[in-house]
Amino acid sequence: MALPKSVKIVEVGPRDGLQNEKELVAAKDKIQLINKLSNAGLSYIEAASFVSPKWVPQMATSSDVMAGIERKTNVTYAALTPNLKGFEAALAAGVSEVAIFGAASEAFSQKNINCSIDESLARFEPVIRAAKQHGILVRGYVSCVVGCPYDGDIAPDTVAEVAEKLYKMGCYEISLGDTIGVGTVASVNKMLQAVSARIPVKHLAVHFHDTYGQALTNIYAALQHGVSVVDSAIAGLGGCPYAKGASGNVATEDVVYMLNGLAIETGINFDTLLEAGWYISNKLGKAPVSKVSNAFLAKCE
Ligand code: HMG
Ligand code: MG
Repeated sequence: MALPKSVKIVEVGPRDGLQNEKELVAAKDKIQLINKLSNAGLSYIEAASFVSPKWVPQMATSSDVMAGIERKTNVTYAALTPNLKGFEAALAAGVSEVAIFGAASEAFSQKNINCSIDESLARFEPVIRAAKQHGILVRGYVSCVVGCPYDGDIAPDTVAEVAEKLYKMGCYEISLGDTIGVGTVASVNKMLQAVSARIPVKHLAVHFHDTYGQALTNIYAALQHGVSVVDSAIAGLGGCPYAKGASGNVATEDVVYMLNGLAIETGINFDTLLEAGWYISNKLGKAPVSKVSNAFLAKCE
């Protein structure tokens, strides 16, 4: 299939990226980061997560973050909401969109949200209903779409089944998460074939973690399937607190560099994006986990 002419980047750095940081990042620094990302032209920013602060302490300041950001009219500021309590908090904080997050692996579902896959779907029902009442779109994540840190390999049909359930429940887009980054082009192709047999590809997004260095190649494989929504995190931040060894998300800088090379439109200003990555890396006191970012940084020094 021909590659898409444009790609929507879903910037998950402020949420998926920062949720795994042990040291608490001040709300004002998260706000600065989000503002820098919107200034760079990112039109979709996952800015917060209304989960239990006992489970993910880093996300406890989500309401303050949502209250402090400069809102641009053309930017979607989204948040994770695992249940109705989370949805209500997200609504009060003025999010533009919410995401529910399920898994294709029973063990991961238990570790991450403390319930089975079926129980999680039942909890999502009222979230979707409430969101509909308020005219808020719901995105659906499926984690562990290739492998699980506890259950090992995950069958493509299992992924397709969970993805289809979320889609039929009313999620407008399903983000397929290789949470531990074990996918290769071969396994990702099989998974995407199974899922796209049940859900139109325009409703699919891919969410790769770069643990095994396969994320860019896997994204390229997904583009060949016609996927045109890609999740990534500034500076390659991230991981999942409930998936040991899951390193960061693929870096937004690396994805945009690749897409620019392919002349695929993203609407992102590359220089401003690099600066946003350097900003948060400085705050965290570590180098960006992005080869592209480091290469440009070396040229500036
Ligand atoms: P639980 O303990 O089963 O929930 O956790 P509960 O309903 O029994 O409530 C226990 C306590 O949590 C109560 O407080 C509730 O009020 C509170 P207490 O009475 O003990 O003081 N509570 C909440 N507080 C704030 N916000 C809420 C909320 N809900 C309950 N929304 C729960 C179930 C889902 C809440 C918990 O397991 C949780 O918060 N998990 C979140 C885990 C998480 O955030 N993981 C990372 C995100 S997923 C990810 O990164 C993967 C992804 O990127 C895709 C990929 O890479 O594959 C999306
Ligand atoms: Mg993730």
